Amino acid sequence: MTRRLEGKVAIVTGAARGIGEGIADRFAAEGAAVVVADVLDIGEAVADRIRSRGDQATFQKLDVTSEQAWSDAVSVALKEYGRLTTVVNNAAIFNAAGLMGTTLEDWNKLLAVNLTGTFLGMKVPMEEMLKTGNASIVNIASLYGLVATTGYSAYHASKGGVRMLSKASALEFAKSGVRVNSIYPGDTETPAMENLTEEQNAAVLALVPMGVAGKPLDIANGALYLASDEARYVTGSELVIDGGWSLP
Ligand SMILES: NC(=O)c1ccc[n+]([C@@H]2O[C@H](COP(=O)([O-])OP(=O)(O)OC[C@H]3O[C@@H](n4cnc5c(N)ncnc54)[C@H](O)[C@@H]3O)[C@@H](O)[C@H]2O)c1
Repeated sequence: MTRRLEGKVAIVTGAARGIGEGIADRFAAEGAAVVVADVLDIGEAVADRIRSRGDQATFQKLDVTSEQAWSDAVSVALKEYGRLTTVVNNAAIFNAAGLMGTTLEDWNKLLAVNLTGTFLGMKVPMEEMLKTGNASIVNIASLYGLVATTGYSAYHASKGGVRMLSKASALEFAKSGVRVNSIYPGDTETPAMENLTEEQNAAVLALVPMGVAGKPLDIANGALYLASDEARYVTGSELVIDGGWSLP
C-alpha cells in the first residue's frame, strides 16, 4: 500500500521535541523524507530514531530567525533528497505576560521566532517548492491566534499574525501549486507545557469541553492530512484541533 506522503520531502521546524517531533515522526512513517530542523541538538536523536526504523530523516541545525540558516536547510533537503515539497513551520516560543509585563526585548524576541520565522519559512523555500508544482506549507498557529485571553499579549499577536500571513500567502500562491494552511492546537501535552503547576493545568483543562489535553499525534494527524495530496483542493484553511476549547 502506498504511504500517504510517499515521495514528499519535508522540512519540519522545532522538530527536536513536542508537536514538531510528533509531526516529523508521523510524516516519516508515511513515507516522507524529513529534515528535522531545530536550534536544539537533541533533534539529532529524533532523526537517528526515525532512520533506525528504516524511514528517512536528517537533522539540520536551524534557527528560524536566520535567513542564511533557512537557505542552508533548503540546500540540505535538495542535497539529501533532491527536492522540497513540504514545510511545516512549527517552531515557536512562549511568553506568559500581558501588555505591561512584556518588555520590548521580549516582544522582539518572540515575534522574531514565531512570526518572522514563519515568514522566512515560507519565503526562502518558496522558489524550490514552486518548481515541484505540488507543494504544501503547514503553519502551526495556536488557539490563541483565534481567541483572546489575558496574560499572553505577544504570543497572541504572533499567532494572529501567523493566521493572516498563512491566508494571504494561500491566496497569493493559489494558482502556483503551493497550498498554505494553518493549524490551531489547543492544550497539547508537550515539554512547553511541563512548567505549569497542577493548579494551572487544572484551570486550563476546565476550559476544554472534552476535558483532556491533546497529544502531539493529534496535531500531527492534522498536519499529515494538509501535507498530503488528499488535501489537494484545500488552501487557506484553518484546522482547529483543540478538544472544543474555542467553541463556547
Ligand atoms: N503545546 C501546546 O499546548 C500548544 C498549543 C497551541 C499551539 N502550540 C504551538 O505548537 C508548536 C509547538 O509547540 P510545542 O508545545 O511542541 O513547543 P516546545 O517548546 O515543546 O517545542 C518547540 C520547539 O521549537 C524549537 N525552537 C524554539 N525556537 C526556535 C528557533 N528560533 N529556531 C528553531 N527551533 C526553535 C525548540 O527548540 C523546540 O524544540 C508551537 O508553534 C506552539 O506555539 C502549542
